[in-house]
Amino acid sequence: MAYNIVTIVGSIRKQSFSLKIANALAKLAPDTLKLDVTTLQGISFFNQDLEAAPPADWLAFRDKLQKSNGVLFVTPEYNRSIPGVLKNAIDVGSRPYGKSSFNGKPTGIISNSPGPLGGVSAAKHLQNILPGISGPILQQPEIYLNGVGDAFDEQGALVKEALKTVLQQYITAFAAHVEAHNR
Ligand code: FNR
Repeated sequence: MAYNIVTIVGSIRKQSFSLKIANALAKLAPDTLKLDVTTLQGISFFNQDLEAAPPADWLAFRDKLQKSNGVLFVTPEYNRSIPGVLKNAIDVGSRPYGKSSFNGKPTGIISNSPGPLGGVSAAKHLQNILPGISGPILQQPEIYLNGVGDAFDEQGALVKEALKTVLQQYITAFAAHVEAHNR
């Protein structure tokens, strides 16, 4: 049986590089992992007024997290932080207070950018946000993918060998992290 990993894509853009990276990771993952590539389209804005009777989309997202064996974030950087859709989903998953659906889940963070800095600030912000509400975060290897703009062909297949090598190394390490924390 493979461990089920909710792979959260931080961009809802149709041609998102983050989505393409998540799809590439799903193919590169060892047999011990099944990556459930999850876009955040349709998750309602978090609003404390709705907490007594949460929208169905919040409940479905929380349920998916709770049933998973781990969480992997693949995100771009917006204005030196994470995109709003991703912060909103984290807020939704973190509630009710003290009952975060991310709690205890082995977690991985991958940032990316077509630019030179690989979205490192977004990854660092996730490192600040998650510890109070998530499980253990894989610390090494760190992965900030730069220059992703020419990494995929028109069908969305990964064609940049250097990127494929880095993703393979990361997902292998992440599989060991997930296994270590699901015993
Ligand atoms: C960006 N982009 C960007 N890139 C970066 O490296 N650092 C940044 O701070 C920002 N800021 C930023 C803000 C906003 C509002 C947008 C729309 C874009 C560029 C970003 O990396 C690029 O658009 C990616 O292609 C977005 O990721 P997806 O949608 O391809 O996954």
